[in-house]
Amino acid sequence: VLADYGISPTHGFLPEVLPLTRLPDPYYNKWEAIAANLQALILSKRLRGVVDRLPVLSTIGLEHDAEWRRAYSLLSFMAHGYIWGGDSPSDRLPPSIAVPLLKVSQHLEVPPVATYAAVCLWNFKPLFVDEDIDNLENLATLNTFTGALDESWFYLVSVAMEARGAPIIPLMLTAIAAARQNDAVTVTRCLSTFAERLDDLTTLLHRMHESCDPIIFYNRIRPFLAGSKNMAEAGLPNGVLYEEGSGTETYRQYAGGSNAQSSLIQFFDIALGIEHRPTGDKRGRATTTSANGPSGREGGHASPSPKHNFIMEMRRYMPGPHARFLSDVQAVANIREFVEEHRADNRPLCIAYDACLAMLSALRDKHIAIVTRYIVIPSREVRARSRSRSPEATRRNRVNLATVSRQPQGIAYDARGAAADAAEQQKKAGASNLKGTGGTALISFLKQARDETGEPAVEEW
Ligand code: HEM
Ligand code: ALA
Repeated sequence: VLADYGISPTHGFLPEVLPLTRLPDPYYNKWEAIAANLQALILSKRLRGVVDRLPVLSTIGLEHDAEWRRAYSLLSFMAHGYIWGGDSPSDRLPPSIAVPLLKVSQHLEVPPVATYAAVCLWNFKPLFVDEDIDNLENLATLNTFTGALDESWFYLVSVAMEARGAPIIPLMLTAIAAARQNDAVTVTRCLSTFAERLDDLTTLLHRMHESCDPIIFYNRIRPFLAGSKNMAEAGLPNGVLYEEGSGTETYRQYAGGSNAQSSLIQFFDIALGIEHRPTGDKRGRATTTSANGPSGREGGHASPSPKHNFIMEMRRYMPGPHARFLSDVQAVANIREFVEEHRADNRPLCIAYDACLAMLSALRDKHIAIVTRYIVIPSREVRARSRSRSPEATRRNRVNLATVSRQPQGIAYDARGAAADAAEQQKKAGASNLKGTGGTALISFLKQARDETGEPAVEEW
């Protein structure tokens, strides 16, 4: 049944067939050649010229899904390199990229941009095929914008987490089935294993610090992951025109790449019955209508909620079958109700469940600390630098910078308390308008997601 959703029992949302390192049909050599030289072409500012001269290749030579996925990854790297790899962003994508990218995206049911699938799920290889891919020491990327090790590491931490988290998928499906059978022993065992695995994932997440430098991330890598939605300030007021040659095409706007597009983390929330409300919606779960309810992915289109639910929106950036899996699991998820029914009579079950919430909440805490160190603090440094260099910028930022200069040097980014300080840091840094590549107001969004993770348990205390 997992296979019906393009999910592997061993690799999870990573493909069962490893990503191809090259498209087998030599017809696509031109794409491969550009991807192989992407960093140099971007560095020398020659990518746009090369792409403008590239012929429009057909998708007819793509056979297996692994080939379509490789094509998608190649084309989305080329697209974002094209858009962001110049002195100012390009608000058009020429037909040589736009036409095949739209076809490939349609086939794979993903948006025609560099999603999490394009840069992480379908963009890695094991160094040794006989070793596991949940080990960071056995992973390499296929495509990067910059060639920096930091960029590879940034993607590979996610790949390793997907692989390490993969066994949780069948595990929690077993738990759901067991809860239906009223088999509390099995549910408890699954939840305990889940909690341990979550702790493992947090350890992996923390390894981001080992080989991804925040300044390189912020200044060199992150700009390529940007989207085309609400990007007027960055120079894309209308979004991006995908030139199909029909003359009738319109500007398109998409969110940038973000790990919020990871199906794995959303699966955890669904399995544990955690609800994420629209950003800014602070109502308690008892009074709110379910943001994760049956309206689901499609409901977002049919009856748009007045408030924006970013986490639900991100499902539209996941491969179609994965998003369908999430809404189908959501329809049968029963663990939280099962645990609540047994609050009074089954202590081990409740302890195991609460441990999962605590672990997932801790993972989100660690993530907030990462965002503080990789985005909030570097953005402050950039502001400070522009103050000392440009009198014009000084005038613009004067008020904000007056606050910044009173900031203590450095903050404890890996302490739990850092999460609590993060919003304050962001505000004081004059960075309250800072946005994630996905388009959220970063810290306030992430803190809400973290707080919602703890909610079901909190009610019981
Ligand atoms: C969301 C930054 C690594 C998982 C976000 C958001 C930002 C962000 C700014 C808010 C959404 C947006 O507007 O894009 C970062 C940075 C990272 C990093 C700077 C590393 C340098 C990771 C990794 C994971 C991850 C490795 C793997 C689990 C998530 C999830 C969300 C998210 C699940 C959605 C919010 C939630 O469910 O709590 N990230 N991220 N991030 N990120 Fe990361
Ligand atoms: N979503 C991450 C960011 O905003 C990549 O930088």
